[in-house]
Amino acid sequence: MQAKPSAAAARRGEGYAAFHRLLLAWYNRYGRKDLPWRNTRDAYAIYLSEVMLQQTQVKTVLERFYVPFLTRFPSLRALAEAPQDEVLSAWQGLGYYSRALNLHKAAKASAAGLPADVEALRALPGVGKNTAHAVAAFAFHQPVAVMEANVRRVLCRIFAISKPVEADLWEKAAALLDASHPFDYNQAMMDVGATVCTKRAPACAICPAQAICRGKDAPELYPAAKMAKKVPVRRETIWVLRNEAGEFYAAARASRFLGGLYQFAQSDAEATGLRVGKHHFARAHGKTLGVVRQQYSHFTLEADVMLLEAGKAGGKDWYGPRALLGLPMSMAEKKVMGLLGLSGGGGDG
Ligand code: ADE
Repeated sequence: MQAKPSAAAARRGEGYAAFHRLLLAWYNRYGRKDLPWRNTRDAYAIYLSEVMLQQTQVKTVLERFYVPFLTRFPSLRALAEAPQDEVLSAWQGLGYYSRALNLHKAAKASAAGLPADVEALRALPGVGKNTAHAVAAFAFHQPVAVMEANVRRVLCRIFAISKPVEADLWEKAAALLDASHPFDYNQAMMDVGATVCTKRAPACAICPAQAICRGKDAPELYPAAKMAKKVPVRRETIWVLRNEAGEFYAAARASRFLGGLYQFAQSDAEATGLRVGKHHFARAHGKTLGVVRQQYSHFTLEADVMLLEAGKAGGKDWYGPRALLGLPMSMAEKKVMGLLGLSGGGGDG
């Protein structure tokens, strides 16, 4: 059995040579080396993957979003020059839309090329420590450790930490890093977390970290399970206003939440009337189309959808069905479109 490095040696990054060899061999054999963002040297393509993967699973990113986005915006410059509506449209369905707005801002700030340096990367909007380290390690082969959710769990188990403290985990991540192979090491750690050291069914017997792992006798204790937080239900009414020309009212949200995405008029559930510009609409004149439910990270939306005839109202913010379909919208609005028979509803995000 491999001896565990002393704490001091671990701090100096020594003593893990045998683990590094095993991990690299494991990665060569079992790693997900065909993921497209692992087969490019384009820092922008790598950065894009890391932003998409911040809150979205590999499978979803891979199957539906990564290649189409790159095809539409093949370079940082192309992204920088695109209108915001187009960027949001390409992000439609991925959720956490501030990622797209930040990506767009970052592209405008560094259209000539991404910096290789961790601190400069972190200065980009939407880039935290993990994303900066991932881009630095994967695009520029800098010796820094990545710590997304999977690696975090692996570290908690290797070091038998039940209540992780962020700064402490980052120290551990740095101590364990194979600084000579930052690309393969970090990709391998993510793959171990995703495929071996899984949350519910860790396969310790086949794990390349077995010899150094202090948590392997009771992996389920590390990290300790958090109480699932209960998110509140928010009841609202969505008012679909349709004028006599067959146009619908929609406006871009100015809020931080879903900012830039277009929405129909919306009010709290009980409102008996709604004002849009100089027009007033009464709930009593509306026809109920159905209910839309949408899960967000911090609440669940449950909205009654009502159709109202808006007569001669029109002008800016009024769109015919084709134009409406072209606007970037969140999943809740897509579901409303489904109720209107304008597109398929459903899906996530
Ligand atoms: N999650 C974040 N970055 C990733 C990567 N490079 N490969 C797989 N999953 C990831």
